[in-house]
Amino acid sequence: MAKKILCFIVYFISLSISAYCQKNEHLALTPPMGWNSWNTFSSEINEQLIKDMADKLVASGMKNAGYEYIVIDDCWLSHERDSIGNLQADPIKFPYGMKAVGDYIHSKGLKFGMYNCAGTMTCAGYPGTYGHEYQDALSYAKWGVDYLKYDWCYTDGINAKEAYTTMSKALTATGRPIVFSICEWGTSMPWKWAAPVGHLWRTTGDISCSWVEKKMSENWIPLGITKIIDIEANLREYAGPGHWNDPDMLEVGNGLSYNEDKAHFTMWAMLAAPLIAGNDLRKMSKQTLDILTNSNVIAIDQDSLGIQALRYMVKDSVEIWVKPLVGGNWAFCFFNRSEKKQKINFDFASHIINDTLSHRILNTNILKYKIYDLWERKKMGYTNKMLKYDIPSHNVLLLRLSPNKFTE
Ligand code: GLA
Repeated sequence: MAKKILCFIVYFISLSISAYCQKNEHLALTPPMGWNSWNTFSSEINEQLIKDMADKLVASGMKNAGYEYIVIDDCWLSHERDSIGNLQADPIKFPYGMKAVGDYIHSKGLKFGMYNCAGTMTCAGYPGTYGHEYQDALSYAKWGVDYLKYDWCYTDGINAKEAYTTMSKALTATGRPIVFSICEWGTSMPWKWAAPVGHLWRTTGDISCSWVEKKMSENWIPLGITKIIDIEANLREYAGPGHWNDPDMLEVGNGLSYNEDKAHFTMWAMLAAPLIAGNDLRKMSKQTLDILTNSNVIAIDQDSLGIQALRYMVKDSVEIWVKPLVGGNWAFCFFNRSEKKQKINFDFASHIINDTLSHRILNTNILKYKIYDLWERKKMGYTNKMLKYDIPSHNVLLLRLSPNKFTE
């Protein structure tokens, strides 16, 4: 009898917890990494393309470097739900349905991501989820989906916090762990309310493959890399393990210069941003692959403390960003946004950096640090000497400072 009562109490407690919990708390403890179809392929997607990308993610070494999600963005759907209101895949693009795609992705040791929208339609005009949240969540669970990007088009009159909370609960109710990627573009400041709801939230409108903003049409000016960085600079207190600011997917390999690609990737790592590649993996150059798989830089992004970098100072268009890391280490980044080469003469001893958010102080007068250049993969001495360096335009010098345990 006592055993039965105990079972009942445990059952009751777990039911109440699942009713109360909005999101699965054990996911995305470091920023998610993967590939998404939108930036390069937009509506031009199909089963073979997605399979090719999964194959390439593995064969190129990106999977080994940490990329795990293959995310199918907008335009995978048929224009109509089926007779009982279920979402269905476009029969031409995905003739065997989405479970078959998910099975293939899983067979490669990868995880399966999909897309829909909180409104009545997706941004490209396919059926949205509004009013079908629990039904669609069940379809995703049935198809083996591990990650859902949930957009914000066609949402007139809908409250963002309520809409995303409903979907979050619907995903949790399926019992399948699904990372919930909120794509609301920052309009209702999701960083202020979304930590219990999703695992990452877009902080801005869409990225473009451009250093600065570029007008694409009368009504559409997607953001450049530098503008997004400025927006993110003010949001660091909201990011952390399981709840990340998302400055949008990567444009590395899509047409920026080599230096710009490096700077873009570095800054996303400093921002503890999700690293979701958006290039054509079948055609990427060795340079692009080297950037995307630089293990030193990825380690900065994936650091388990999950602290987003602080923009410490700006001088002559060179910004200094610092990111506290595990083990008393720091990532230290000089970011040259200007059109010309800039000279750095930096005396660590005269900068005591007090990060009140992480309660960490970098004071090289008390503790000497070893300096390591993470792109050149070379030692650069110690913090007791003046750092002198020329940074080319639109480029970075990314350093890791490690406490020097031994006195010489
Ligand atoms: C919005 C999102 C993009 C992409 C498109 C798809 O613009 O912000 O990331 O998903 O929709 O239509």
